[in-house]
Amino acid sequence: MRLSLLDLKEQYKQLEEEILPAVTQVLASGQYVMGTNVKSFEEEIAQYLGVKHAIAVANGTDALFLLFRALGIGPGDEVITTPFTFFASAETISLCGAKPVFVDLRPDTMNIDEEQVEAAITPRTRAILPVHIFGQPCAMDKLQQIADKHQLILLEDACQAIGSSSQGKRAGTLAKAAAFSFFPTKNLGGYGDGGLIATDDDLLAQDLRLLRLHGSKQKYIHSVVGQNSRLDEIQAAILRIKLRHLDSWNQRRRELADRYNQAFADLPLTLPLEITGTHVYHLYNLRSPQRDDICSYLEDKGIATGHYYPLPLHLQEVYRNLGYREGCLPIAEKTCKTVFALPLYPEMTRQAQDYVIQTVQEFFA
Ligand SMILES: Cc1ncc(COP(=O)(O)O)c(C=O)c1O
Repeated sequence: MRLSLLDLKEQYKQLEEEILPAVTQVLASGQYVMGTNVKSFEEEIAQYLGVKHAIAVANGTDALFLLFRALGIGPGDEVITTPFTFFASAETISLCGAKPVFVDLRPDTMNIDEEQVEAAITPRTRAILPVHIFGQPCAMDKLQQIADKHQLILLEDACQAIGSSSQGKRAGTLAKAAAFSFFPTKNLGGYGDGGLIATDDDLLAQDLRLLRLHGSKQKYIHSVVGQNSRLDEIQAAILRIKLRHLDSWNQRRRELADRYNQAFADLPLTLPLEITGTHVYHLYNLRSPQRDDICSYLEDKGIATGHYYPLPLHLQEVYRNLGYREGCLPIAEKTCKTVFALPLYPEMTRQAQDYVIQTVQEFFA
């Protein structure tokens, strides 16, 4: 048996009858960018999230970058974030001219350690960008208290966490504003790039709508320098369909994760813990000092594994100038050396999961 980390072809097979007519309709409509599907998608996802404004953009990276721009974050400013995330979280801070400041992780959830955030605040700090890594929200109530105390803007990188929640509210509605990605591998993924910003702030939403469209409210009249960050109609039509399946897919991910957790409970593995919010298992990650041996064993048996992420951001070459050295953020560094992902996706069969479970158990037998 050969198993990949996720199976987008199988998902498409199951959705083909819904997707094809919607795409054909867009093709026949002659309206391909920011049309009625984008408008409806924005309304539907705003309702799903429980937020006033949903602003569709070209990808998750733009969602973050536009947010920083709209908030006026730039040269001389610092933004506190996690070193254990996809590069875009920090890249967009740098792109707008600000400096990313990295804070170590909680060892249990692998999210930013809210207890260490306050010590990283300086007079230049403007915002905190926690990332709900792998699909579990960060401890947002504690982070909000810190943000309020120091008059900082609290944001969310919710790119991996659509559909998760904390204290009855969806991820993406737990701070001033949030960024989402619809990259194909995400829990809600298009068949191309896509992104979204969610916020309850009317003025911020207005600015974001301007910025994503060349700073223009009225065609060919420009009030600010914006950019081109639009979602296309085909992606919006696809995402509208997929959004209707999201909760059942996330539920299925949770069931599969539960089954893995039960099967691995007695093995010398660090299991994912669900403590600061509902986990939607964008990725199912284990940790072990024997990670490399386990992964080669699984790969030899046809089971794909993933390393998210092999190198923390504070040790990346591009950030050498920030002055971090090995040992600065020990939990993040250790996590990168021990973490590995197993196949988990809503369409995964019981038989496929049994094969993974048996193979992991065999390794330790
Ligand atoms: C945590 C995180 N932030 C930001 C992004 C950027 O999203 P995109 O790839 O849509 O630009 C991603 C996804 O790739 C991500 O996982």
